[in-house]
Amino acid sequence: MPGKANRTAIVTGGARGIGRAICLALAQKGYAVAPVDLREAELASTAKEIEALGVDAMPIVADIASYQGARDHVAAMVRRWGRIDVLVNNAAMPQTKRILEITEADWDREMAVNLKGYFNWSQAVAPPMLAAGGGRMVNISSVSANTGPSPHAVSRFAYSAAKAGVLGLTRGLARELAPTILVNAICPGAILTDRTADSFAPHMERIKTVTPLGRVGTPEDIAVVVAFLATAEPLFMTGEIIDVDGGANIN
Ligand SMILES: NC(=O)c1ccc[n+]([C@@H]2O[C@H](COP(=O)([O-])OP(=O)(O)OC[C@H]3O[C@@H](n4cnc5c(N)ncnc54)[C@H](O)[C@@H]3O)[C@@H](O)[C@H]2O)c1
Repeated sequence: MPGKANRTAIVTGGARGIGRAICLALAQKGYAVAPVDLREAELASTAKEIEALGVDAMPIVADIASYQGARDHVAAMVRRWGRIDVLVNNAAMPQTKRILEITEADWDREMAVNLKGYFNWSQAVAPPMLAAGGGRMVNISSVSANTGPSPHAVSRFAYSAAKAGVLGLTRGLARELAPTILVNAICPGAILTDRTADSFAPHMERIKTVTPLGRVGTPEDIAVVVAFLATAEPLFMTGEIIDVDGGANIN
């Protein structure tokens, strides 16, 4: 029967893709991990991979858009583990429609998941982190928050708008929660995952050409930077936004 853990992390969208790689990177560092996702089967398989690394896993089937759900699940984690050290807000959904096609319901759902979902989980974990005297939040945004969607991107403007909101949330919370909780964000560039494989396929040569490091990114390229922001001691950084894009958006 799993009990209290020494160090713990929540990773939303942990079932597959970048979130799964983040779960495994934190598990490798000895963190018990709670992946949160809508995809039940893939969540169970990520949980098995986490446990195979010798730490506790607490897979949670949940929609991050639910405000009360986030509070209830965080309360259950604190009961089980006694602490929450790290929150990685990573779950997000694409939005492929352009301004003349998108409906009000599409827009509302995009904001409910990709922006409010990040707020829901940040607010739920803040009290236990403050009570414990420390914590880290890492928010996964996108380079398209700053650049707008590139031609090979899956999503269009509504996604970029939500991801830009994540940057404001990050900077605002970094100031509010300092010095106890450090809040930073990562903007991935083109990262090959189940979500992006089809849309990247016809553009692969172009992606390589416009990327100084000469290749498309992998989920592990993001996970290594998340693990740094989530676990490095000491860390004299908060409210920072880091592009992880192989240099594609150097400015
Ligand atoms: N792949 C890229 O090129 C890229 C680029 C920039 C930013 N990102 C960002 O990185 C993150 C991960 O992207 P990915 O490529 O791994 O995508 P993905 O679709 O493979 O994984 C996202 C996961 O989030 C889950 N999810 C979606 N909505 C959810 C909800 N409402 N509640 C709970 N879980 C939900 C999905 O089920 C999925 O498992 C996202 O925030 C994405 O916007 C990705």
